[in-house]
Amino acid sequence: MKIKMGFAILVAGLLLSGCSGSKNVIYVDQLDLKQMESGWGQNHIGKSVDGNPLKIAGKTFERGIGTHAVSKFLVKIGGSAESFDGLVGIDDESSKPGTVEFMILGDRKVLWRSGIIKKGDIAKEVHVSLKGVDKMAMLVTDGGDDINYDHADWINARITYRDIAPTVTSLVQKEPYVLTPQNSKPRINGASIIGAKPHHDFIFRVPVSGKAPLKVVVSGLPTGLVFDAKNRSISGKAPASGVYEFTVNAENSEGSVSKKIAIRTDNGLSLTPPLGWNSWNCWGLSVDQNKVKAAADAMVSSGLADHGWTYINIDDGWEAAERTKDGVLLANEKFPDMKSLTDYIHSLGLRMGIYSSPGPKTCGGFQASYQNELSDARTWSKWGIDYVKYDWCSYGQIAKDQSLPELKKPYQLMRKMLNQVDRDIVFSLCQYGMGNVWEWGGEVGGNLWRTTGDITDSWNSMAGIGFAQSKSSSFAHPGNWNDPDMLVVGKVGWGPSLHPSHLTPDEQYTHISLWALLASPLLIGCDMTQMDPFTLNLLTNDEVLEINQDPLGKQAKQISNKDGIQIWTKPLSDGSLAVGIFNLGSDNGIETIRWDDQPNLQKVSLSATDLALTGKLKVRDAWRQSDIGEFDGSFEAQVPFHGVVLYRISPVK
Ligand code: GAL
Repeated sequence: MKIKMGFAILVAGLLLSGCSGSKNVIYVDQLDLKQMESGWGQNHIGKSVDGNPLKIAGKTFERGIGTHAVSKFLVKIGGSAESFDGLVGIDDESSKPGTVEFMILGDRKVLWRSGIIKKGDIAKEVHVSLKGVDKMAMLVTDGGDDINYDHADWINARITYRDIAPTVTSLVQKEPYVLTPQNSKPRINGASIIGAKPHHDFIFRVPVSGKAPLKVVVSGLPTGLVFDAKNRSISGKAPASGVYEFTVNAENSEGSVSKKIAIRTDNGLSLTPPLGWNSWNCWGLSVDQNKVKAAADAMVSSGLADHGWTYINIDDGWEAAERTKDGVLLANEKFPDMKSLTDYIHSLGLRMGIYSSPGPKTCGGFQASYQNELSDARTWSKWGIDYVKYDWCSYGQIAKDQSLPELKKPYQLMRKMLNQVDRDIVFSLCQYGMGNVWEWGGEVGGNLWRTTGDITDSWNSMAGIGFAQSKSSSFAHPGNWNDPDMLVVGKVGWGPSLHPSHLTPDEQYTHISLWALLASPLLIGCDMTQMDPFTLNLLTNDEVLEINQDPLGKQAKQISNKDGIQIWTKPLSDGSLAVGIFNLGSDNGIETIRWDDQPNLQKVSLSATDLALTGKLKVRDAWRQSDIGEFDGSFEAQVPFHGVVLYRISPVK
């Protein structure tokens, strides 16, 4: 009896504790998938990322998860799991070939990697032992290219465990943190030099920040231009060819300040990189008039305009299906009145941009400018457009080949037409860098030119683009800028639904610092009506923006690249040097998952000789807007993983 009783207690105990030795299986789709990050679109249970049946190399699967690179999912298994099993592959729905790599990670180590998987490859089996692992992560990387077309499926993904059932752990790497102090003193921001063409319409909003109320006075404007204190903008007709200096005074309860700004009408447009917003990275083809108006309003109400942000640019998706019978380009029903939209944007002191392509159709399949170039330039001018982005898209069918004359032709043609309308229209070339466009973009009349394919909000994409820009560096100068694509901070999504950027806070600091150093055009890609204090801080640090807007117009170069640390320097007009120290770490995505609370700082030491300077150095932290000190010999920086420190360094005289 005693024996029987003991046996019964033992069995009950084993059953209750679940450690009876019998194995339990939990499918990953039974876990809280809200925590699974997807680099594009929405994760789906039992369906692909686009919502279709899961299908790999012609075979359909009932159970699984459809996601998209870069995808991450962190599971706490507490040392009680046996194994992870399943199949992986690229879903057949991807419209073009993509490559991905699936990984199973355990406590900061790679336990299994699929190797590069291409569209059409049969589903690959995964069986990974999880013995002793505390936290496991499922990761899908872009396979070393970019995340385009990387529709990734985890089929029958399941964890076998004994004691404690796996639970999901949040992936958030680090809370966003604001480095820049609030500044209530008056400050006159933005470029110190403005390019315009003689006798054309001129519009410029004077960027002044500080505690309200602020009194702004402008004096010494050339004849033809007037300042309207209500919207702080200068408008009228630009003067004859020459250089004209005027003075801005700003005053509030905290003090007063003044700055001289020059208008140059003898040296073309965009004498510093354009600062603005573009609809593509948030709204994609779902852009409409209200969204554009809301963006313009937000640029003013958020204070961005007070830091020099100016352009409101509509990307693809505004064009009507047909031209008029006279061949005039029309906007579609989402933009009922382009002229009054432009007037509205100008009334705020901002400028308006638009998009087209030299081919018959834009990339989004809308009407483009082929064989209507002059007519379109006239239409834009009539509407009051200040900026045109001209995308390659279907021009591939028109160009005879990829030779330089063929690559240049459509841009030369549109430039010629833009020159025939009496408006300052900034010309932005978008052909992804073909034929080393940086070598001839200026010669065909471009003010800026895309040097790369499209950016997305992943580390691989942003860092892959940004850190590869040294080659084009010497071609950047006032009026001619290399464009490594638009910003991916804040809420982005390529429309209509948006998500917070997948870049970690440190990666976002890297993004803005690097683009500032590269003298890149800065085009905000997020919904500006939904910016949190972190995003706003990233975009309104005047010392960082000053590096970007420096009138010398030099683009940073990489001066060293060692053990995952890269140093980039940009000479500035006052003889100082902007220096970015970046910690790229290893590139396998493992550290982007928070395994624990380790700070992950890398110590870097730097000396005057490293920077090709001599003597004592004065070092100022641009993000924190504070002096670090004066150094003889070397000094040390602590750089967070995937993060940056951005300094302004001047030799002490
Ligand atoms: C791409 C371009 C994007 C966006 C898109 C619109 O070619 O690189 O920035 O303009 O077209 O369809």
